[in-house]
Amino acid sequence: MEDHLKSYTQSEKKCFSTKFISIFVSSLFLVFILFHIQYSSPFDFTLSATSQRWAFLSQENNSDVIETMTAELKDSVTFLPLTDLRFRETATTGHTWFMSSLNDTLEENEAEHLYFPSKASKGRLLCFKGRDIRDGTKNSYALAWREGLPDSAILLEGLTFVSDTYYDHQNLWHGLSAMAPLVRWSMKNECLKPSRWVLFHWGELRLRMGSWIQQLMQANFGEVKVEGFDRGDVPYCFEKAIVTRHDLGQMRQDTKLKVFDLLRCKARSYCGLNPAGKGRELNERGFPIIRLTLLMRRASRSFKNATAVTGIFAKECARVEGCILHVVQSEDLSFCGQVKVLTNTDIVASPHGAQLTNMLFMDRESSVMEFFPKGWLENAGPGQYAHHWMANQSGMKHQGAWWDSIGEECPSPQDHLQCFHFHKDGMVGHNETYFADWARRIIHQVKLSKVEQASVDQANKQQNDSKACVC
Ligand SMILES: *[C@@H]1O[C@H](CO)[C@@H](O)[C@H](O)[C@H]1NC(C)=O
Ligand SMILES: *[C@@H]1O[C@H](CO)[C@@H](O)[C@H](O)[C@H]1NC(C)=O
Ligand SMILES: *[C@@H]1O[C@H](CO)[C@@H](O)[C@H](O)[C@H]1NC(C)=O
Ligand SMILES: *[C@@H]1O[C@H](CO)[C@@H](O)[C@H](O)[C@H]1NC(C)=O
Ligand SMILES: *[C@@H]1O[C@H](CO)[C@@H](O)[C@H](O)[C@H]1NC(C)=O
Ligand SMILES: *[C@@H]1O[C@H](CO)[C@@H](O)[C@H](O)[C@H]1NC(C)=O
Repeated sequence: MEDHLKSYTQSEKKCFSTKFISIFVSSLFLVFILFHIQYSSPFDFTLSATSQRWAFLSQENNSDVIETMTAELKDSVTFLPLTDLRFRETATTGHTWFMSSLNDTLEENEAEHLYFPSKASKGRLLCFKGRDIRDGTKNSYALAWREGLPDSAILLEGLTFVSDTYYDHQNLWHGLSAMAPLVRWSMKNECLKPSRWVLFHWGELRLRMGSWIQQLMQANFGEVKVEGFDRGDVPYCFEKAIVTRHDLGQMRQDTKLKVFDLLRCKARSYCGLNPAGKGRELNERGFPIIRLTLLMRRASRSFKNATAVTGIFAKECARVEGCILHVVQSEDLSFCGQVKVLTNTDIVASPHGAQLTNMLFMDRESSVMEFFPKGWLENAGPGQYAHHWMANQSGMKHQGAWWDSIGEECPSPQDHLQCFHFHKDGMVGHNETYFADWARRIIHQVKLSKVEQASVDQANKQQNDSKACVC
């Protein structure tokens, strides 16, 4: 490299200071280029030839050099497949198979994320290309400096939230798990709101989130715009982007509670309810009010005999002054209908299913009773504890579950996966003795804690609760 420079400058016979400045400037450019090469994927031209050309140009006319270099920077932007099949077996762990060449930013107690442009991205923006909805390897990503975005790239201004999930953005529980880190990131960053959302599942583009999760995000962030990349088959680059790909990841328990406190509070205000929750906790005769809700579902995992189940709970509730039973059909409720019912619930009893995610809207420390069809306990794996986790994340008390033991046996009991599919959408029976004892115990427990709470300054509690709307 120095040789090339030397021979060239000699032939030009210019004064020493010009030579010196040229060499200095060229060296600077080269350092910059070498630095860039080190962090880029395969370059298809030889290093020495290029250096020579830049050295020449820098001396001749600087604006030419800049133009050439910018063109070369643009051409050197390298797109890689969004999903990296080499990591298929460990798709959700480590740096994941989504944008696998990039490491997460790790902050203690927080969910993993990536931010662009940042020191870690060396000031480069994130770009995406492709909008395949079936194959994540057909979509790609790259990093590029703002001055060197690939040709015809569209720059999307403002902040973009990018969420990739191994599960999905439709289901209430999975959708919430995928969005929680973004809500948290915003809380920590002056409650910044995104201009748009980009959703992926296994790197496949998703054009919408479920209506429940969308409304919850709307309650917190205002209008939700999901990007479809429909302005042509060109690269799209983001002025600022935050990427999450681990759902709740390493977020610590108290951090999760803060996120769920905020969402509860926001959803209540969005639906025109008091963000501090329900008001009066005692009836006219001074007995604590206990609101028990049977949250029903239709078809799969509904109760085989809902009338019988309702009868058992109604009987136990009627034994306790102040207990009020509501029986609601989750599918018939709008988003705000769900928020309203659960805001006014102290004990929710419901078969296992996504509708239970609504427990989020109850006041903290409220109770959850869950029911499973036959076969789940043995075959459903750890995923069946999703609502135990949900209760823990949102500050509720999971008061246990009942697993039906009566029903048809699956054809090959050794094969857990096959058995799970056999039982997955089964219906839930009941055990009158068990349900009655269980309901009695939980109602009693809630009554005691309400009596205790009644002595606490309610105004102070409400003030504390409404402070949860930190954003
Ligand atoms: C450098 O190149 C640019 C663009 O080609 C041209 O407009 C400009 O006049 C040149 N400057 C000198 C000093 O040669
Ligand atoms: C990502 O982290 C791994 C392990 O700490 C490290 O070896 C690797 O160099 C990092 N990659 C980048 C692009 O920073
Ligand atoms: C459901 O339970 C009720 C009350 O126990 C009972 O009268 C009714 O016969 C049951 N229905 C069916 C279909 O088993
Ligand atoms: C949630 O689980 C953690 C760890 O298992 C436990 O320490 C914590 O007390 C639980 N929180 C609630 C609200 O149950
Ligand atoms: C119903 O529950 C009671 C109380 O837990 C238990 O003793 C009984 O064996 C159960 N009945 C059936 C059929 O499982
Ligand atoms: C309200 O918050 C304060 C300070 O965090 C705390 O000391 C107090 O116990 C809380 N009151 C209630 C009723 O939760």
